[in-house]
Amino acid sequence: MDKPEHSSESEFRYESVVKFIDELIDSGALSAGQKVPSLRKVSKARGVSISTALHAYRMLESQGVLEAQPQSGFYVSAKSAVQVEKPSVMSRSTRVRKVSTGAQVANMFELAGDTSMAPLGCAIPGPDLLATSQLDKFLVRMTRTQGKNANTYSPPRGEQVLRAAIARRSINWGHAVSADDILITCGCTEALHLALKAITKPGDTIAVESPGYFGFFPVLQALHLTVTEIPADSVEGVSVSALEVAIEKNNIKACLFSSAFNNPLGCLTSEDKKMQVLSLLNKHRIPLIEDDVYGDIFFGRERPRPYSAMENAKNVIYCSSFSKTVAPGYRIGWVATTGNMEKLVAEKYATTLCGPTLTQVAMGEYLNAGAYDNHLRGLRKSFAANIAIVSKTIAETFPAGTRISRPEGGFVLWVELPDNINARAVFDLALKDNICFAPGDLFTTSGNYQSCMRISCGYSWNSSIERAIWKLGALVLSMMAQE
Ligand SMILES: Cc1ncc(COP(=O)(O)O)c(C=O)c1O
Repeated sequence: MDKPEHSSESEFRYESVVKFIDELIDSGALSAGQKVPSLRKVSKARGVSISTALHAYRMLESQGVLEAQPQSGFYVSAKSAVQVEKPSVMSRSTRVRKVSTGAQVANMFELAGDTSMAPLGCAIPGPDLLATSQLDKFLVRMTRTQGKNANTYSPPRGEQVLRAAIARRSINWGHAVSADDILITCGCTEALHLALKAITKPGDTIAVESPGYFGFFPVLQALHLTVTEIPADSVEGVSVSALEVAIEKNNIKACLFSSAFNNPLGCLTSEDKKMQVLSLLNKHRIPLIEDDVYGDIFFGRERPRPYSAMENAKNVIYCSSFSKTVAPGYRIGWVATTGNMEKLVAEKYATTLCGPTLTQVAMGEYLNAGAYDNHLRGLRKSFAANIAIVSKTIAETFPAGTRISRPEGGFVLWVELPDNINARAVFDLALKDNICFAPGDLFTTSGNYQSCMRISCGYSWNSSIERAIWKLGALVLSMMAQE
Protein backbone atom coordinates (compact mmCIF):
# COMPACT_ATOMS: atom_id res chain seq x y z
CA MET A 1 0.00 0.00 0.00
CA ASP A 2 1.23 3.48 -0.87
CA LYS A 3 1.76 5.49 2.27
CA PRO A 4 0.96 9.18 2.19
CA GLU A 5 3.90 11.55 2.48
CA HIS A 6 4.79 12.33 6.09
CA SER A 7 4.50 16.08 6.04
CA SER A 8 2.36 17.86 8.62
CA GLU A 9 0.16 18.84 5.68
CA SER A 10 -0.54 15.20 4.75
CA GLU A 11 -1.03 14.35 8.44
CA PHE A 12 -3.72 17.01 8.55
CA ARG A 13 -5.33 15.66 5.35
CA TYR A 14 -5.49 12.10 6.52
CA GLU A 15 -6.95 13.21 9.85
CA SER A 16 -9.57 15.24 8.02
CA VAL A 17 -10.79 12.05 6.32
CA VAL A 18 -10.88 10.19 9.66
CA LYS A 19 -12.85 13.05 11.21
CA PHE A 20 -15.21 13.23 8.25
CA ILE A 21 -16.11 9.53 8.50
CA ASP A 22 -16.34 9.69 12.31
CA GLU A 23 -18.79 12.58 12.00
CA LEU A 24 -20.91 10.76 9.42
CA ILE A 25 -21.19 7.82 11.83
CA ASP A 26 -21.75 9.97 14.92
CA SER A 27 -24.52 11.95 13.25
CA GLY A 28 -26.25 8.74 12.13
CA ALA A 29 -25.73 9.52 8.43
CA LEU A 30 -23.83 6.24 8.25
CA SER A 31 -24.84 3.36 10.45
CA ALA A 32 -23.53 -0.11 11.27
CA GLY A 33 -23.24 -2.34 8.22
CA GLN A 34 -23.49 0.49 5.69
CA LYS A 35 -20.90 0.99 3.00
CA VAL A 36 -18.78 4.12 3.39
CA PRO A 37 -17.96 6.32 0.37
CA SER A 38 -15.45 4.70 -1.99
CA LEU A 39 -11.82 5.77 -1.78
CA ARG A 40 -12.21 7.58 -5.10
CA LYS A 41 -15.25 9.50 -3.88
CA VAL A 42 -13.81 10.42 -0.51
CA SER A 43 -10.50 11.46 -1.99
CA LYS A 44 -12.34 13.77 -4.38
CA ALA A 45 -14.66 15.11 -1.68
CA ARG A 46 -11.86 15.84 0.79
CA GLY A 47 -9.25 16.91 -1.76
CA VAL A 48 -6.76 14.20 -0.77
CA SER A 49 -4.89 11.55 -2.72
CA ILE A 50 -6.29 8.01 -2.89
CA SER A 51 -3.35 6.74 -0.82
CA THR A 52 -4.10 9.28 1.92
CA ALA A 53 -7.77 8.22 1.92
CA LEU A 54 -6.72 4.58 2.09
CA HIS A 55 -4.38 5.35 4.99
CA ALA A 56 -7.30 6.99 6.84
CA TYR A 57 -9.62 4.03 6.15
CA ARG A 58 -6.96 1.57 7.32
CA MET A 59 -6.59 3.59 10.53
CA LEU A 60 -10.38 3.49 11.07
CA GLU A 61 -10.25 -0.24 10.41
CA SER A 62 -7.53 -0.74 13.05
CA GLN A 63 -9.72 1.21 15.47
CA GLY A 64 -12.63 -1.14 14.82
CA VAL A 65 -14.76 1.61 13.27
CA LEU A 66 -14.66 0.22 9.70
CA GLU A 67 -14.40 -3.27 8.28
CA ALA A 68 -12.88 -4.03 4.87
CA GLN A 69 -14.73 -6.53 2.69
CA PRO A 70 -12.67 -8.10 -0.12
CA GLN A 71 -13.62 -6.88 -3.62
CA SER A 72 -16.32 -4.68 -2.13
CA GLY A 73 -14.95 -1.82 -0.06
CA PHE A 74 -15.19 -0.50 3.49
CA TYR A 75 -18.24 -0.80 5.76
CA VAL A 76 -19.17 0.64 9.15
CA SER A 77 -18.32 -2.08 11.61
CA ALA A 78 -21.41 -3.84 12.97
CA LYS A 79 -19.94 -3.64 16.45
CA SER A 80 -18.46 -0.23 16.11
CA ALA A 81 -18.01 1.13 19.64
CA VAL A 82 -19.80 4.30 18.65
CA GLN A 83 -23.06 2.34 18.68
CA VAL A 84 -22.78 1.99 22.44
CA GLU A 85 -24.33 4.60 24.71
CA LYS A 86 -22.07 6.85 26.73
CA PRO A 87 -21.99 6.61 30.56
CA SER A 88 -24.77 8.47 32.31
CA VAL A 89 -24.26 8.07 36.07
CA MET A 90 -23.40 11.44 37.56
CA SER A 91 -22.77 12.45 41.11
CA ARG A 92 -25.60 14.50 42.59
CA SER A 93 -24.26 15.67 45.91
CA THR A 94 -21.70 18.42 46.43
CA ARG A 95 -21.67 17.82 50.20
CA VAL A 96 -18.37 18.44 51.97
CA ARG A 97 -16.79 15.17 53.11
CA LYS A 98 -13.79 14.10 55.12
CA VAL A 99 -11.40 12.04 53.03
CA SER A 100 -10.53 8.67 54.38
CA THR A 101 -9.02 6.39 51.81
CA GLY A 102 -8.79 2.86 53.06
CA ALA A 103 -7.21 -0.38 52.02
CA GLN A 104 -8.87 -0.26 48.62
CA VAL A 105 -6.80 2.61 47.24
CA ALA A 106 -3.64 1.18 48.83
CA ASN A 107 -4.40 -2.19 47.25
CA MET A 108 -4.77 -0.56 43.84
CA PHE A 109 -1.32 1.01 44.11
CA GLU A 110 0.13 -2.36 45.20
CA LEU A 111 -1.42 -3.98 42.13
CA ALA A 112 0.17 -1.36 39.84
CA GLY A 113 3.48 -3.20 39.91
CA ASP A 114 2.07 -6.74 39.74
CA THR A 115 3.08 -8.03 36.32
CA SER A 116 1.14 -11.28 36.75
CA MET A 117 -2.10 -9.32 36.28
CA ALA A 118 -3.75 -8.52 32.94
CA PRO A 119 -2.93 -4.80 32.84
CA LEU A 120 -6.38 -3.21 32.76
CA GLY A 121 -6.01 -1.71 36.25
CA CYS A 122 -3.61 1.14 36.85
CA ALA A 123 -3.21 3.80 34.18
CA ILE A 124 0.33 2.93 33.13
CA PRO A 125 1.49 2.76 29.50
CA GLY A 126 2.96 -0.57 28.38
CA PRO A 127 6.78 -0.72 28.22
CA ASP A 128 6.79 -1.15 24.42
CA LEU A 129 4.75 2.03 23.98
CA LEU A 130 6.94 4.02 26.35
CA ALA A 131 9.91 3.36 24.05
CA THR A 132 12.10 3.19 27.14
CA SER A 133 15.23 2.26 25.20
CA GLN A 134 15.41 5.72 23.61
CA LEU A 135 15.43 7.43 26.98
CA ASP A 136 17.83 4.82 28.35
CA LYS A 137 20.42 5.91 25.78
CA PHE A 138 20.41 9.40 27.26
CA LEU A 139 20.65 8.02 30.78
CA VAL A 140 23.62 5.84 29.81
CA ARG A 141 25.32 8.76 28.07
CA MET A 142 24.74 11.05 31.06
CA THR A 143 26.06 8.39 33.45
CA ARG A 144 29.19 8.13 31.35
CA THR A 145 29.78 11.81 30.77
CA GLN A 146 28.30 13.42 33.87
CA GLY A 147 28.02 10.60 36.38
CA LYS A 148 30.40 12.20 38.88
CA ASN A 149 28.99 15.70 38.55
CA ALA A 150 25.45 14.46 38.81
CA ASN A 151 26.04 12.50 42.00
CA THR A 152 25.22 15.46 44.14
CA TYR A 153 22.22 17.53 45.20
CA SER A 154 20.38 19.40 42.50
CA PRO A 155 18.99 22.87 43.32
CA PRO A 156 15.60 22.53 45.14
CA ARG A 157 13.88 23.87 42.03
CA GLY A 158 15.48 21.19 39.85
CA GLU A 159 18.12 20.96 37.14
CA GLN A 160 18.31 23.99 34.87
CA VAL A 161 18.62 21.92 31.66
CA LEU A 162 15.31 20.18 32.41
CA ARG A 163 13.47 23.29 33.57
CA ALA A 164 14.58 25.15 30.44
CA ALA A 165 13.47 22.25 28.21
CA ILE A 166 10.04 22.15 29.89
CA ALA A 167 9.75 25.93 29.63
CA ARG A 168 10.38 25.65 25.87
CA ARG A 169 7.66 23.02 25.61
CA SER A 170 5.21 25.24 27.47
CA ILE A 171 4.77 27.15 24.19
CA ASN A 172 2.98 24.03 22.90
CA TRP A 173 0.34 24.29 25.57
CA GLY A 174 -0.22 27.97 24.91
CA HIS A 175 1.11 29.30 28.19
CA ALA A 176 4.76 30.16 27.90
CA VAL A 177 6.55 30.09 31.24
CA SER A 178 10.21 30.63 32.03
CA ALA A 179 12.57 28.09 33.57
CA ASP A 180 12.35 30.12 36.80
CA ASP A 181 8.60 29.51 36.98
CA ILE A 182 9.15 25.75 37.08
CA LEU A 183 9.80 23.49 40.04
CA ILE A 184 10.72 19.87 39.34
CA THR A 185 8.91 17.35 41.51
CA CYS A 186 8.70 13.63 42.10
CA GLY A 187 5.91 12.97 39.58
CA CYS A 188 2.67 14.88 39.29
CA THR A 189 1.65 13.50 42.68
CA GLU A 190 4.30 15.53 44.49
CA ALA A 191 3.50 18.53 42.30
CA LEU A 192 -0.14 18.41 43.46
CA HIS A 193 0.88 17.78 47.05
CA LEU A 194 3.23 20.78 47.16
CA ALA A 195 0.73 23.03 45.38
CA LEU A 196 -2.05 22.12 47.81
CA LYS A 197 0.26 22.49 50.78
CA ALA A 198 1.37 25.92 49.64
CA ILE A 199 -2.12 27.38 49.37
CA THR A 200 -4.28 25.56 51.94
CA LYS A 201 -4.33 24.77 55.63
CA PRO A 202 -5.74 21.73 57.44
CA GLY A 203 -9.54 21.72 57.51
CA ASP A 204 -9.93 23.64 54.23
CA THR A 205 -12.35 22.36 51.61
CA ILE A 206 -11.12 21.54 48.10
CA ALA A 207 -13.37 21.00 45.08
CA VAL A 208 -12.50 18.08 42.79
CA GLU A 209 -14.24 16.63 39.74
CA SER A 210 -16.45 13.61 40.24
CA PRO A 211 -15.61 10.95 39.22
CA GLY A 212 -11.99 11.93 39.76
CA TYR A 213 -8.60 10.25 39.98
CA PHE A 214 -8.39 8.18 43.19
CA GLY A 215 -4.76 9.22 43.76
CA PHE A 216 -5.96 12.73 44.73
CA PHE A 217 -7.66 11.40 47.84
CA PRO A 218 -4.59 10.19 49.81
CA VAL A 219 -2.97 13.59 49.13
CA LEU A 220 -6.03 15.45 50.43
CA GLN A 221 -6.21 13.13 53.41
CA ALA A 222 -2.52 13.56 54.29
CA LEU A 223 -3.01 17.33 54.28
CA HIS A 224 -6.19 17.04 56.42
CA LEU A 225 -8.31 18.68 53.72
CA THR A 226 -12.00 18.05 53.19
CA VAL A 227 -13.50 17.60 49.77
CA THR A 228 -16.56 18.57 47.78
CA GLU A 229 -17.12 16.72 44.52
CA ILE A 230 -18.29 18.62 41.45
CA PRO A 231 -20.10 16.39 38.93
CA ALA A 232 -18.39 15.87 35.59
CA ASP A 233 -20.00 14.48 32.46
CA SER A 234 -18.31 11.98 30.15
CA VAL A 235 -18.74 14.38 27.21
CA GLU A 236 -18.99 17.91 28.59
CA GLY A 237 -16.56 17.72 31.49
CA VAL A 238 -17.03 19.58 34.76
CA SER A 239 -20.43 21.14 35.52
CA VAL A 240 -20.14 24.91 35.90
CA SER A 241 -23.61 25.25 37.44
CA ALA A 242 -22.82 22.60 40.08
CA LEU A 243 -19.56 24.41 40.83
CA GLU A 244 -21.49 27.63 41.28
CA VAL A 245 -23.88 25.99 43.74
CA ALA A 246 -21.01 24.34 45.62
CA ILE A 247 -19.21 27.68 45.95
CA GLU A 248 -22.37 29.29 47.35
CA LYS A 249 -22.93 26.45 49.82
CA ASN A 250 -19.41 25.60 50.93
CA ASN A 251 -16.37 27.63 51.79
CA ILE A 252 -14.19 26.29 48.98
CA LYS A 253 -10.53 27.27 49.38
CA ALA A 254 -9.18 25.78 46.13
CA CYS A 255 -10.18 23.65 43.16
CA LEU A 256 -8.22 20.72 41.83
CA PHE A 257 -9.37 19.99 38.25
CA SER A 258 -7.91 18.16 35.30
CA SER A 259 -6.83 20.33 32.38
CA ALA A 260 -7.78 17.71 29.81
CA PHE A 261 -9.06 14.13 29.64
CA ASN A 262 -10.27 13.67 33.16
CA ASN A 263 -9.21 10.35 34.63
CA PRO A 264 -11.47 8.25 34.49
CA LEU A 265 -13.90 9.91 32.02
CA GLY A 266 -11.46 10.95 29.27
CA CYS A 267 -13.62 14.02 28.65
CA LEU A 268 -12.39 17.44 27.66
CA THR A 269 -13.85 20.56 29.26
CA SER A 270 -14.25 23.06 26.38
CA GLU A 271 -12.35 26.35 26.32
CA ASP A 272 -15.62 28.24 26.78
CA LYS A 273 -16.35 26.27 29.88
CA LYS A 274 -12.81 26.71 31.17
CA MET A 275 -13.28 30.47 30.85
CA GLN A 276 -16.59 30.25 32.73
CA VAL A 277 -14.98 28.21 35.51
CA LEU A 278 -12.16 30.74 35.76
CA SER A 279 -14.42 33.77 35.91
CA LEU A 280 -16.39 32.10 38.69
CA LEU A 281 -13.20 31.32 40.58
CA ASN A 282 -11.80 34.81 39.96
CA LYS A 283 -15.02 36.33 41.30
CA HIS A 284 -14.70 34.34 44.52
CA ARG A 285 -10.88 34.56 44.68
CA ILE A 286 -10.50 30.81 44.63
CA PRO A 287 -7.21 29.45 43.27
CA LEU A 288 -7.18 26.55 40.81
CA ILE A 289 -4.65 23.74 40.74
CA GLU A 290 -4.77 22.02 37.39
CA ASP A 291 -3.51 18.54 36.58
CA ASP A 292 -2.41 18.20 32.95
CA VAL A 293 -0.76 14.75 32.95
CA TYR A 294 -2.83 13.63 29.95
CA GLY A 295 -2.62 16.89 27.98
CA ASP A 296 -0.06 15.59 25.45
CA ILE A 297 -2.19 12.53 24.66
CA PHE A 298 -4.89 14.14 22.52
CA PHE A 299 -6.66 12.45 19.62
CA GLY A 300 -7.87 15.64 17.95
CA ARG A 301 -5.77 17.95 15.82
CA GLU A 302 -4.53 20.24 18.52
CA ARG A 303 -3.25 19.98 22.01
CA PRO A 304 -5.96 21.29 24.34
CA ARG A 305 -5.04 24.51 26.11
CA PRO A 306 -4.97 24.17 29.89
CA TYR A 307 -6.75 26.57 32.24
CA SER A 308 -3.51 28.49 32.80
CA ALA A 309 -3.42 29.39 29.09
CA MET A 310 -6.91 30.93 29.09
CA GLU A 311 -7.11 34.69 28.72
CA ASN A 312 -8.81 35.12 32.11
CA ALA A 313 -6.47 32.81 34.09
CA LYS A 314 -5.41 34.63 37.26
CA ASN A 315 -4.50 32.29 40.05
CA VAL A 316 -3.78 28.93 38.47
CA ILE A 317 -1.05 26.51 39.46
CA TYR A 318 -0.17 24.09 36.68
CA CYS A 319 0.99 20.53 37.50
CA SER A 320 2.09 17.76 35.17
CA SER A 321 4.61 14.97 34.65
CA PHE A 322 6.17 12.62 32.11
CA SER A 323 4.60 9.57 33.76
CA LYS A 324 1.88 8.97 31.17
CA THR A 325 4.01 9.47 28.09
CA VAL A 326 7.58 8.38 28.54
CA ALA A 327 8.88 7.68 32.03
CA PRO A 328 6.58 6.67 34.93
CA GLY A 329 9.64 5.17 36.63
CA TYR A 330 11.75 8.33 36.45
CA ARG A 331 9.24 10.08 38.70
CA ILE A 332 9.69 13.46 37.05
CA GLY A 333 6.89 15.97 37.30
CA TRP A 334 6.71 19.71 37.67
CA VAL A 335 4.75 22.68 38.91
CA ALA A 336 4.58 25.85 36.82
CA THR A 337 3.53 28.97 38.65
CA THR A 338 4.50 32.60 38.83
CA GLY A 339 2.80 33.65 42.04
CA ASN A 340 3.58 30.89 44.49
CA MET A 341 7.12 29.79 43.70
CA GLU A 342 8.77 30.83 46.96
CA LYS A 343 6.31 28.88 49.09
CA LEU A 344 6.55 25.89 46.79
CA VAL A 345 10.34 25.81 46.92
CA ALA A 346 10.18 26.02 50.72
CA GLU A 347 7.76 23.08 50.76
CA LYS A 348 10.04 21.17 48.40
CA TYR A 349 13.15 21.44 50.51
CA ALA A 350 11.16 20.78 53.65
CA THR A 351 9.98 17.45 52.24
CA THR A 352 12.59 15.98 49.89
CA LEU A 353 15.17 18.78 49.62
CA CYS A 354 15.53 18.14 45.87
CA GLY A 355 14.91 15.45 43.28
CA PRO A 356 17.43 12.90 41.90
CA THR A 357 19.92 14.67 39.64
CA LEU A 358 20.95 12.12 37.00
CA THR A 359 17.47 11.28 35.73
CA GLN A 360 16.63 14.99 35.50
CA VAL A 361 19.71 15.69 33.39
CA ALA A 362 18.97 12.69 31.16
CA MET A 363 15.37 13.78 30.65
CA GLY A 364 16.50 17.34 29.88
CA GLU A 365 18.90 16.07 27.20
CA TYR A 366 16.27 13.74 25.77
CA LEU A 367 13.82 16.65 25.40
CA ASN A 368 16.51 18.83 23.85
CA ALA A 369 17.32 16.15 21.27
CA GLY A 370 13.80 16.55 19.87
CA ALA A 371 12.80 12.88 19.96
CA TYR A 372 9.88 13.41 22.33
CA ASP A 373 7.45 14.92 19.81
CA ASN A 374 8.01 12.11 17.38
CA HIS A 375 7.43 9.65 20.20
CA LEU A 376 4.20 11.44 21.19
CA ARG A 377 2.84 11.25 17.63
CA GLY A 378 3.18 7.46 17.62
CA LEU A 379 1.94 7.13 21.19
CA ARG A 380 -1.30 9.01 20.48
CA LYS A 381 -2.05 6.74 17.55
CA SER A 382 -1.31 3.64 19.62
CA PHE A 383 -3.54 4.75 22.50
CA ALA A 384 -6.37 5.70 20.12
CA ALA A 385 -6.10 2.27 18.48
CA ASN A 386 -5.99 0.51 21.89
CA ILE A 387 -9.08 2.39 23.05
CA ALA A 388 -10.94 1.51 19.86
CA ILE A 389 -10.21 -2.19 20.00
CA VAL A 390 -10.91 -2.46 23.74
CA SER A 391 -14.24 -0.56 23.34
CA LYS A 392 -15.19 -2.78 20.44
CA THR A 393 -14.40 -5.94 22.38
CA ILE A 394 -16.34 -4.71 25.42
CA ALA A 395 -19.28 -3.92 23.13
CA GLU A 396 -19.11 -7.48 21.79
CA THR A 397 -18.64 -9.33 25.06
CA PHE A 398 -20.41 -7.38 27.81
CA PRO A 399 -24.20 -7.55 28.25
CA ALA A 400 -26.53 -5.23 26.36
CA GLY A 401 -27.03 -1.98 28.22
CA THR A 402 -23.32 -1.57 29.04
CA ARG A 403 -22.25 2.02 28.41
CA ILE A 404 -18.75 3.04 27.36
CA SER A 405 -17.06 6.44 27.32
CA ARG A 406 -15.49 7.77 24.12
CA PRO A 407 -12.36 9.50 25.37
CA GLU A 408 -10.93 12.37 23.41
CA GLY A 409 -7.49 11.62 24.77
CA GLY A 410 -5.59 9.71 27.44
CA PHE A 411 -5.89 5.95 27.59
CA VAL A 412 -8.62 4.93 30.00
CA LEU A 413 -12.22 3.88 29.42
CA TRP A 414 -15.09 4.41 31.84
CA VAL A 415 -17.60 1.59 31.62
CA GLU A 416 -21.04 1.57 33.22
CA LEU A 417 -22.56 -1.85 33.81
CA PRO A 418 -26.28 -2.49 33.34
CA ASP A 419 -28.75 -3.50 36.08
CA ASN A 420 -26.65 -1.95 38.83
CA ILE A 421 -24.20 -4.82 38.70
CA ASN A 422 -21.67 -4.23 41.44
CA ALA A 423 -18.27 -3.62 39.85
CA ARG A 424 -16.40 -4.28 43.10
CA ALA A 425 -17.91 -7.76 43.25
CA VAL A 426 -16.75 -8.29 39.65
CA PHE A 427 -13.30 -6.98 40.67
CA ASP A 428 -12.98 -9.47 43.56
CA LEU A 429 -13.76 -12.35 41.20
CA ALA A 430 -11.55 -10.99 38.41
CA LEU A 431 -8.49 -10.75 40.69
CA LYS A 432 -8.71 -14.53 41.24
CA ASP A 433 -8.25 -14.84 37.47
CA ASN A 434 -5.30 -12.43 37.53
CA ILE A 435 -7.30 -9.65 35.90
CA CYS A 436 -7.13 -6.17 37.34
CA PHE A 437 -9.27 -3.11 36.64
CA ALA A 438 -10.24 -0.12 38.75
CA PRO A 439 -13.72 -0.37 40.33
CA GLY A 440 -15.79 2.83 40.08
CA ASP A 441 -16.15 3.34 43.85
CA LEU A 442 -12.45 4.30 44.00
CA PHE A 443 -13.12 7.51 42.07
CA THR A 444 -15.24 9.21 44.72
CA THR A 445 -15.61 9.71 48.46
CA SER A 446 -19.40 9.42 48.14
CA GLY A 447 -19.94 5.70 47.63
CA ASN A 448 -21.22 6.48 44.12
CA TYR A 449 -20.24 4.73 40.82
CA GLN A 450 -20.70 1.22 42.25
CA SER A 451 -21.74 -0.08 38.84
CA CYS A 452 -18.82 1.53 37.00
CA MET A 453 -15.34 0.37 36.16
CA ARG A 454 -12.27 2.03 34.69
CA ILE A 455 -10.39 -0.03 32.15
CA SER A 456 -6.86 1.03 31.26
CA CYS A 457 -5.93 0.75 27.57
CA GLY A 458 -2.28 1.58 28.16
CA TYR A 459 -0.94 -1.72 26.80
CA SER A 460 -0.82 -2.82 23.18
CA TRP A 461 -3.57 -5.24 22.23
CA ASN A 462 -2.66 -8.90 22.67
CA SER A 463 -4.36 -12.22 23.25
CA SER A 464 -4.08 -12.07 27.04
CA ILE A 465 -5.81 -8.66 27.13
CA GLU A 466 -8.46 -10.01 24.76
CA ARG A 467 -8.99 -13.05 27.01
CA ALA A 468 -9.20 -10.79 30.08
CA ILE A 469 -11.96 -8.67 28.54
CA TRP A 470 -13.89 -11.73 27.44
CA LYS A 471 -13.58 -13.08 30.97
CA LEU A 472 -14.79 -9.81 32.50
CA GLY A 473 -17.78 -9.86 30.15
CA ALA A 474 -18.55 -13.44 31.20
CA LEU A 475 -18.30 -12.51 34.90
CA VAL A 476 -20.71 -9.61 34.45
CA LEU A 477 -23.14 -11.83 32.50
CA SER A 478 -23.02 -14.53 35.16
CA MET A 479 -23.67 -11.95 37.91
CA MET A 480 -26.66 -10.67 35.96
CA ALA A 481 -28.00 -14.20 35.67
CA GLN A 482 -27.81 -14.57 39.46
CA GLU A 483 -29.72 -11.33 40.16
C1 LIG B 1 -4.99 12.42 36.74
C2 LIG B 1 -3.70 11.92 37.30
N1 LIG B 1 -2.91 12.76 37.97
C3 LIG B 1 -1.75 12.36 38.49
C4 LIG B 1 -1.33 11.05 38.37
C5 LIG B 1 -0.03 10.64 39.00
O1 LIG B 1 1.02 11.09 38.21
P1 LIG B 1 2.54 10.75 38.60
O2 LIG B 1 2.76 9.29 38.34
O3 LIG B 1 3.35 11.61 37.71
O4 LIG B 1 2.72 11.09 40.04
C6 LIG B 1 -2.12 10.13 37.68
C7 LIG B 1 -1.72 8.73 37.55
O5 LIG B 1 -2.52 7.86 37.26
C8 LIG B 1 -3.33 10.59 37.12
O6 LIG B 1 -4.12 9.76 36.45
